[in-house]
Amino acid sequence: MKKVIMDCDPGIDDAIALTVLLAHPEIAEVIGVTTVGGNVTLNYVTQNAKKLLTFLGSKAELASGQAEPLVKEIETAGEIHGKTGMEGYDFPAESEDYPLTSENAVTFIHDKLVASDDKVDIVATAPLTNIALLLKTFPEIHDKIDKIYVMGGSTLQGNITLAAEFNAYVDPEAAQIVFDSGVDVVLSGLNLTENKAFMTMDEIKSIKELGEVGVMASSILDFYASAELEKGMTKIPIHDACAVISMLNPGLFTKSHNYSIDVATTNDQFRGMTYPDRRVYAEEKNSVKVLEDVDRDAFVKYLLDSIKSYS
Ligand code: BDR
Ligand code: CA
Repeated sequence: MKKVIMDCDPGIDDAIALTVLLAHPEIAEVIGVTTVGGNVTLNYVTQNAKKLLTFLGSKAELASGQAEPLVKEIETAGEIHGKTGMEGYDFPAESEDYPLTSENAVTFIHDKLVASDDKVDIVATAPLTNIALLLKTFPEIHDKIDKIYVMGGSTLQGNITLAAEFNAYVDPEAAQIVFDSGVDVVLSGLNLTENKAFMTMDEIKSIKELGEVGVMASSILDFYASAELEKGMTKIPIHDACAVISMLNPGLFTKSHNYSIDVATTNDQFRGMTYPDRRVYAEEKNSVKVLEDVDRDAFVKYLLDSIKSYS
């Protein structure tokens, strides 16, 4: 049995990812969920986590974390996720009462790692601010982390800019710290999430047939998918679900390559660009496992089956 902490900024695809994660208690015990400012501001992402955990009947401990990136000013993505980050569904009113164990995600994760006899996996589907602070502040707990499964960056196209993926763009300094930390990082970048692991609109539409959780997932996905369609995307990426599924079912990912990756921390058109060193004689500054391909049909089936399993 794996022990897992999920650091996220729900956010619609984060919500789907967390729903998939919590559908698999036979594989992963979720020992904590932490939030960080990203898709929308920290108060909204934390409220959204409460709404989702209440709706799913989870008892996972929740902690809120950093509101702002390490160095840069926060940028949000309301145009994709809606003003509050997770609109379109009437979540239970008692969500407000979901307990917050801590307002310091960094010490919360640290304490969970220290208390665990086994190594813990971290899934990070947001700007890496909390995780970078954790790794810098407590280097002695690096060996309590098995792997960090990150959704972020890209070895090909960007999304927020032509060069950069959103999470890496929002906190590039944090991404660089995490990549350089020496902890094993498994990366689901846009090269995977948009080009290989996308869902078709028909597949997205089929989610509403998957019981009560399916109705919730499809209601929040409606806004997200139409925003992607409006941008001209016909293949819909559920980015953050890739990071979760790469942890739950790594065998679905058919190709990967380890690269030394740098992140542009400049304030120009390259900000947040994650560029792998492809030189054969490259000196390894770090080694990030970049996922490059997936059995897409099996991936989509896994996602849909996970949602269906609640009914
Ligand atoms: C990433 O950015 C956010 O908008 C999504 O939740 C995902 O984590 C995709 O670039
Ligand atoms: Ca996210």
